[in-house]
Amino acid sequence: MSTIKIAVIGCGCIARSSHIPCYMAAEDAEIKYFCDTIPEKAQACVQEQGCGIAITDYHVALEDPEIDAVSVCTPNRMHSVISIDAMRAGKHVLCEKPAARVYSEALEMQKVQRETGKVLNIGVVCRFHEAVNQVRRRILDGELGEVYHVFINFRSHRSIPGIGGAFTTKDISGGGVLIDWGVHRLDQVLYCVGEPDPISVTGAVYSKLGTDIPGYVYRYMWSESTRDVNGTYDVEDSVSAFIRTTGPVITLEGAWAQNIEEEEQYLDFIGTKAGIRLQYCGNYKVYGTRNGELFTEDVEIPEINMFQREIDAFLHCIRTGEKERSHIDYAIKTSKIMQGIYDSSKNGKEIIF
Ligand SMILES: NC(=O)c1ccc[n+]([C@@H]2O[C@H](COP(=O)([O-])OP(=O)(O)OC[C@H]3O[C@@H](n4cnc5c(N)ncnc54)[C@H](O)[C@@H]3O)[C@@H](O)[C@H]2O)c1
Repeated sequence: MSTIKIAVIGCGCIARSSHIPCYMAAEDAEIKYFCDTIPEKAQACVQEQGCGIAITDYHVALEDPEIDAVSVCTPNRMHSVISIDAMRAGKHVLCEKPAARVYSEALEMQKVQRETGKVLNIGVVCRFHEAVNQVRRRILDGELGEVYHVFINFRSHRSIPGIGGAFTTKDISGGGVLIDWGVHRLDQVLYCVGEPDPISVTGAVYSKLGTDIPGYVYRYMWSESTRDVNGTYDVEDSVSAFIRTTGPVITLEGAWAQNIEEEEQYLDFIGTKAGIRLQYCGNYKVYGTRNGELFTEDVEIPEINMFQREIDAFLHCIRTGEKERSHIDYAIKTSKIMQGIYDSSKNGKEIIF
């Protein structure tokens, strides 16, 4: 195969900050189409990058036999629709996280991947972070002993993205902080501890602080251009859950908005020999005892562009047919767990898988 020809579908924040620059930096890829239902957004990418054709209907790219692959960077509602259409049209797919709004949609994506044999990777980009891979190696090498519990903490004082827009409208997003932030944390935990299967979950989600959209106060907002004071807020801004797996128990506390002081973003891997606190996409510390003494090991991680690694891995999969760490078969377990948490919260009882 010569240069891999790409269509980027959805030209918003993640496409422009990550997918597009990473394809532009890759030696063996070329972006042929920039697609967005808002024509100015697609056109702006053509102008910024000095290449490609702006389109508003993704089917144009799917009908072009020159196109090898697509990046799906739209809001969550279109993830399964576009990914399935693309695979059926013979294209490889890198679909942003979460795979889909609900587990049934993710299952359908997996089914079509198996039928078509096309690459379907999900944007679980933390699997490409250097610290995450070091922690994973230490756990799988047995350095921590038996890892019996993982505690995930991702709580912020005020960080609701694009309030009133796609992120906070359940029909478009599928949910709030769990599906938007929790997906990365849960997925990297499963990756680090060797992909255990979920057994059961119990959870509760709360929609409290975002419901007063005009009264919501903030300093910074992801995707602020999609904020809509007259829009919808029907998703959770915080979540608590308890997950049993064939490996460790996982507990999580997450919030886009919660009346707490400092933001907390870390994962504790708790083992019999040692424990690790991994700052989200950052450095980590190892804690334990050695020769009768307590010890702490500080590990600083050099900046490495995990998005570039994700895109390079996708291109590698297209070339070789190899199954990489972000394949739908791995990412789908997180969809199952998140669905369980939402169902448990709705029904007020534990969900046994
Ligand atoms: N991997 C990460 O860390 C990460 C970070 C942020 C966002 N995301 C994910 O990326 C996706 C997009 O998020 P964003 O922040 O870029 O949102 P955004 O709103 O900034 O961009 C989405 C774009 O998709 C366009 N769009 C909507 N429907 C379309 C369609 N049918 N065809 C073509 N374009 C369409 C919109 O007009 C918009 O420009 C979400 O699924 C989100 O969860 C991932």
